[in-house]
Amino acid sequence: MLGIETTCDETAAAIVERDTDRRGRILSNIVLSQTDEHAAFGGVVPEIAARAHVEVLDLLIAQAMAEAQCSFDALDGIAAAAGPGLIGGVIVGLTTAKALALVHRTPLIAVNHLEAHALTARLTDGVDFPYCLFLASGGHTQIVAVRGVGDYALLGNTMDDAVGEAFDKTAKLLGLGYPGGPEVERRAALGNPQRFALPRPMQHRREPDFSLSGLKTAVRLEAERIAPLSDQDVADLCASFQQAIVDTVYDRLRAGLRRFRERYGAPNALVAAGGVAANQSIRQTLQRLTDEQDIALIVPPPALCTDNGAMIAWAGAERLACGLTDPLDVAPRARWPLEAIVPAIPRG
Ligand code: KG4
Ligand code: ZN
Repeated sequence: MLGIETTCDETAAAIVERDTDRRGRILSNIVLSQTDEHAAFGGVVPEIAARAHVEVLDLLIAQAMAEAQCSFDALDGIAAAAGPGLIGGVIVGLTTAKALALVHRTPLIAVNHLEAHALTARLTDGVDFPYCLFLASGGHTQIVAVRGVGDYALLGNTMDDAVGEAFDKTAKLLGLGYPGGPEVERRAALGNPQRFALPRPMQHRREPDFSLSGLKTAVRLEAERIAPLSDQDVADLCASFQQAIVDTVYDRLRAGLRRFRERYGAPNALVAAGGVAANQSIRQTLQRLTDEQDIALIVPPPALCTDNGAMIAWAGAERLACGLTDPLDVAPRARWPLEAIVPAIPRG
């Protein structure tokens, strides 16, 4: 399966194999990040992103095919992320996939980008359904019950900012670079997490939802109060912010796992996905939580947690194995919630 990803600021193409035992193998996985093109603007500029995808996508696909030593005749399908995401970029990837599918008479699979994040743990670790997914990226913060291919139940969501977005906005207001997550984590390692008393929004609520915009505002007020900021002030703010996020993730996921058990019984694992799962402090707190609850923790390697083509190819392969393909007039979608996807095997 060829997988194409263009929903945000990474252009990516990959070839993945799924054998009859549903074991996955990545034959190539090429990601070109546009970070440099957007850095000057402190965030992703949709128009720049779409143009950058157009410029490199065909070359990346050729490179992915060459590295995998794969010919188009050997492909069983072509998968592209058809949303959710920045619509200009989604159109570039999906239209390219349609053209290739038409020319090579190969099935097209229009993959939901979030579904691809959700299924990555089956590529890396072969985990069985059902499992609990914590998806934390720049655009999404969700706790999801993954019950089968296409069978996703949303347990918790953010009411405002996503976790990655909170990292990015905090970095921006402290004058750090974009993307903010890695930079905030680096500074936090040099700071005192107890110096600032920041809020832990939603703590102890039964509903496993998040609200993070208040935390970001609290960081801003503290920064304004003590301005001008020394390097140590910035480090202490980053450390205190990250600690508030870590405590919030622990508490909200505990509520999420409780809800999972109430509705679906014991999960086979807690799976983390999305760029934020690269954060070591967040990984440690997930480890502590799953140790306490005697649940397996699966965190795919960072390169498969952030946006990539292998996850799209794998989701395409899982869907194709269930007999799910899409017509060539399938529409790109800027918004496409996971729960809108229909289960491959209807539940009776
Ligand atoms: O999944 P992803 O690559 O792209 C999407 O948003 O779909 O996630 C990117 C997000 C950014 O907000 C970035 O700041 C955050 O993940 N991130 C991190 C870390 N690395 C990336 N957040 C916290 N700590 C990190 N080490
Ligand atoms: Zn993503």
